[in-house]
This record gives sequence, C-alpha cells and structure tokens, in this order.
Amino acid sequence: MSDQSTAGVSRRTFAKASAAVASAAILSSKSGVAATNGETIKVGLLGCGGRGTGAAINCLEGNTNVKLVAMADILDYQLADSLKKISGHGNKQVSSQCDVSPEMQFVGVESYKEILKTDVDIIIHATTPYIRPLHIEAIVEAGKHIFTEKPSAVDPVGIRRFIAAAKKAEKKGLCIVTGTQRRHQKSYVDTMKKLQDGAIGDILSGQAYWNGTLPFMRERKPGMSDLEDRLKNWYAHCWVMGDNIVEQHIHNLDIMNWAMGGPPKKVYASGGRVWKHLTKNPERYGDLWDHFSCDYEYDNGVHVTSMCRHWARECTQRVAENVVGTKGSSTCRDMGKDDRNPYVQEHMDLLAAVRGEAPYINEGVRCAESTMTAIMGRMSAYTGMELTWEEALNSDLSIVPEVLSFDMKYPVGEVPNPGPKNV
Ligand SMILES: NC(=O)c1ccc[n+]([C@@H]2O[C@H](COP(=O)([O-])OP(=O)(O)OC[C@H]3O[C@@H](n4cnc5c(N)ncnc54)[C@H](O)[C@@H]3O)[C@@H](O)[C@H]2O)c1
Repeated sequence: MSDQSTAGVSRRTFAKASAAVASAAILSSKSGVAATNGETIKVGLLGCGGRGTGAAINCLEGNTNVKLVAMADILDYQLADSLKKISGHGNKQVSSQCDVSPEMQFVGVESYKEILKTDVDIIIHATTPYIRPLHIEAIVEAGKHIFTEKPSAVDPVGIRRFIAAAKKAEKKGLCIVTGTQRRHQKSYVDTMKKLQDGAIGDILSGQAYWNGTLPFMRERKPGMSDLEDRLKNWYAHCWVMGDNIVEQHIHNLDIMNWAMGGPPKKVYASGGRVWKHLTKNPERYGDLWDHFSCDYEYDNGVHVTSMCRHWARECTQRVAENVVGTKGSSTCRDMGKDDRNPYVQEHMDLLAAVRGEAPYINEGVRCAESTMTAIMGRMSAYTGMELTWEEALNSDLSIVPEVLSFDMKYPVGEVPNPGPKNV
C-alpha cells in the first residue's frame, strides 16, 4: 500500500499525474495556493515547541527568499520562547528571514484557525501528535502546502482522517513533506536505491530498533490545568503521543517499510512496563509502557523483528535498522555518504517542489502508513492479539479526547494489561 498502489496507478503515471496537478497549482499562485520562483514564500509555524522551533530554523537556514511571518500555539509562553530563539538566531540568514508581527501571533485552542486565515503559503506543523489529523485536514482545506512532523496520528481513526486529507492535498496540488527525515538523508537514499537494484539479492528479513531511555518526565507546576500538564509532560500519556513505539520507533519502521516496498500484512507483538510502577510518582509516568517487541510479516513471508524500549542508561542502547538478503546484509545506510543535515534537506526539498523546481511531492500517505505500522504493533502488544493490516487500519479505536479545554479534567489512562483479567 505504497503511495503508488493507493493511488491505483503505476509509479510513472502517478508521477506524471501529480506533476501536472502541481504545475496547475503553481500557475494559479495568485490564489495563494503556491508561489512562483520569484516570489517570497511565506511560512507559518503551528506548534512552537522544541521541534517546531528547530524545523522553522531549518527551513530558513536551507532556503532564501522565504520568510517566517506567522506563528500559533495553544500556550502563549511556548510561542514567545520560540520567536525569541528564531528571531535572535546566530545565523543571520535565519534571523533576517523571521518577521512575525504581533498581529500574526495566535494563541489558544483555536489558534490553528487564525493562522490559517493568513496568506502564508506553507504551514510547518509540529504540535504533539494527537491533534495532527484535525489540523492537517484544516490546513488542506485552507489550501496551504505542508511540512508536518511525524507521527501522523495516534490511532486508526486519526490515521484514516490524515490519509483522506493527504489525498485531498494531492487533488489540490498541495505538497506535503513529513518529518521522517531519513527519507531525505543521502546515505539512506543512496543505499535504498542500491538495495532496490539488488545489492544484497532478495531481502529475507529485517531488524529495527529504538532502544533508548525515557526522553523526559516533567513535574506538574502549581496552578497548571490538567490540559497544560498533559501537553507539557506529554511523554507519559498515550492519547497525546501514542506511546514510544509510535512516537520514536516510527523512524525505524518507516525504513523497514521503505526496504520492503510497503507496510506489513500482519503483526504479533508483546511488551510491558517493568520499571515505571516501581517509582515513587506513578502518576507522572502516566499510562505508557516502557518496552515493545514486534514480529511484522510482510509480503512473501518476509519477517521484521522490531524492538523499542525506555530502559536505564546502563542497558545496551541501539537505534538502528538492518536488512538481510540472499547475498549479504545492509544497515540501510552503509552504501552512501551523508552530505547535508537531513532536517535542512527536507525543507529544501519541500520548497523546491512548491516553487516548481522539483516534481510534486506528497509524503502524507506514506508517513501515515508507517505511523499505522507502529500503531498496529502497539495494538497487538496492548491486547496480546495477532492483527492483520486491514483489521488494524479499519479499527474504530479512537483515543483522543473530543474536546480540548483548559477547564476540563483529563484523567490519567489505565495502564494496558493484556494478561488474564481476573488474577
Ligand atoms: N523528526 C524528528 O526527528 C523529531 C524530533 C523531535 C520531535 N519530533 C516530533 O515533533 C512533534 C513535537 O515535538 P516537540 O518535541 O517539539 O514537543 P513540544 O512539546 O516541545 O512542542 C509541541 C508544541 O505543540 C503545542 N501544541 C500542542 N497542542 C496544540 C494545539 N492543539 N494547538 C496548537 N499548539 C499545540 C505545544 O504547546 C508545544 O509548544 C512531535 O510529534 C514529535 O514526535 C520529531
């Protein structure tokens, strides 16, 4: 179910059709859909945290004739902090291309609606994942090109919504680049090409790892509402970020899907929470597990072993991918050399496509499929059940609260327990 197969056409026809749609959009730039070569491209940042700030900087350092002109965040201090970092950046190319007036700064739950009323050409979307499908749908509706961070969603209902929006973007000629930056990293790109050309023969199996430590745990500050706390201490709550298999391990699973030519057919997974319940402050660690291991089955019976965990620093850490073929093996990046920061390259690639200097680009469905690969692993592990791709993708599982409000309670979820219920 790669981009080509979901579009139901061959790769070549798909590329041609998409390029035609894209040039139509570029020609109609007066509508604000896209900018031609000579125009300054206006960028808006939605979600002004660590990565959003980084992504905006990467966009400005990699491109000229581009300006950051609008910003939006649910929390005012996040926006203020981010603007300070970008406008005061040491690289003059970054700071001089940042021009966000007070009227172009939007704060609150509805801030996404406000930034979409402006005349920006591109939205950089870097909120925490839970709200991504709703926002991406609105951004496409508003006719903006998109850079969006991964993961695309946290549940199958969100994934279907994200996929529908990405397909609509294609119809409207709107480009989408996703934050799976390995896809823009030369060592991976060159190695993948060689693997597809048969460098290690037929691929027989794969291994993917994100074995590290918990990225952070933030104590609740006095006076914080439930919502503010959940959004600040987001590495504790499944509805905000999907658990670590979805938020981090997606990068490695995306490489496996790339090597295998599409997402898996089945998964059989397991995992748990070995240390968090031993801590003095269980509420601060929310409902997430701290390890998963999955056996994914792809076409032709090829299996991928996947592992991710948040364990102590002293444990052997590994963030890596590997494939084994009939004639050898590869780390998926050992047959190429990096030339540029992929976090910058992805914004150069997006702008080149928006300007019509490169073919139309839309990575939306592909990123959603890699996110779904991770979600399906989580679903299998949390329930203890083997799952097919169709069962997982078509599930009604929806874990994001319907209403966002600083006045509401957001109780901590129960830690999933797939074991016997009555012991
Ligand atoms: N590609 C990568 O290597 C990479 C690296 C780090 C993070 N990320 C991704 O970037 C995203 C953000 O991560 P981060 O580390 O910057 O988190 P963060 O908490 O620092 O930033 C998230 C921002 O989104 C804002 N936000 C949350 N809900 C919102 C809403 N409804 N409307 C508007 N703003 C909202 C928060 O207030 C915050 O400022 C995550 O999806 C993460 O997975 C990707």
